[in-house]
Amino acid sequence: MNSEKDFDRLSPKKRANYIRDYYNQKDGQNIYATSPDFNLRELEIDFIINNVKGPRILDLGCGNGYTLLRLAEKIKGDLIGVDFSSEMIQGANQLLKKNRQKLKSQPKFFEGDGTTFSPLGGKIDTIISERFLLNLPNKRSQYETIENIHRLLRSRGFYLMIEGSKDGLRKLNKLRESVGLEPILDRDKHNLSSRKFNDNELFEFLKKYFTIMEVKTFDLYYLIGRLIYPKIIYPEKPHYNHPVNEIARKLTAQINFPSQGIGHVKGYVLRKK
Ligand SMILES: C[S@@+](CC[C@H](N)C(=O)[O-])C[C@H]1O[C@@H](n2cnc3c(N)ncnc32)[C@H](O)[C@@H]1O
Repeated sequence: MNSEKDFDRLSPKKRANYIRDYYNQKDGQNIYATSPDFNLRELEIDFIINNVKGPRILDLGCGNGYTLLRLAEKIKGDLIGVDFSSEMIQGANQLLKKNRQKLKSQPKFFEGDGTTFSPLGGKIDTIISERFLLNLPNKRSQYETIENIHRLLRSRGFYLMIEGSKDGLRKLNKLRESVGLEPILDRDKHNLSSRKFNDNELFEFLKKYFTIMEVKTFDLYYLIGRLIYPKIIYPEKPHYNHPVNEIARKLTAQINFPSQGIGHVKGYVLRKK
């Protein structure tokens, strides 16, 4: 399938099947199989490590479990990952086997639907969704999944949500336009399923269920990696593995750069009301 129109014509069930097939075709043992912008992924993981509270942690749409495996190096607890792609779950179990020695916890991975998942053994202390809702087939399933997350959490438990922001992408594209760069598309044939949130609408919804403790954006990373670097090398195409992205990541981790909400990924620390 090549066009957004073709994808949008599918029923929600068929869209979900398309997404599952898409992830099943990837190499589950490649730690960055689900996140080609691996420097940004590491910043997301830093954010999760800094805010997670155990011992029961659930990662919905966990892909090949790389985030949970990184957490398992640091935390003793009951770590659970769920993904509907069999390739991703097999990859997660292989990566677990390879890395077992250096882990403080042994995560458990399940193949299943993250929108309705309900683990045995009681309520959860922290639920993570990292670019998972972004891949759901419609807005309704995104918001219903947030409600399910709220139900699964213990009283005052945490939801760490790292998902797509339409407004963040718009801000980035405005800056790109101002320096003569073409906009980054909301969707293209490599991410037909990308469904980013409208920030205000999301905020109003979240406020009903959660106290919003922090909103994290990665402005500096985007300014360097998606604005300055591509402008300097233009008309050459930028690459995720260019060393400048690593520098951007290091600086972003070190400097408390003021947030203006730039970039298509946003992190929220949410405490259950
Ligand atoms: C962009 S990847 C993100 C994976 C990982 N969380 C990460 O941070 O890289 C989206 C993941 O969501 C999974 N996914 C999408 N819809 C799902 C569903 N309904 N139930 C379980 N997993 C789902 C996909 O298989 C894929 O692994």
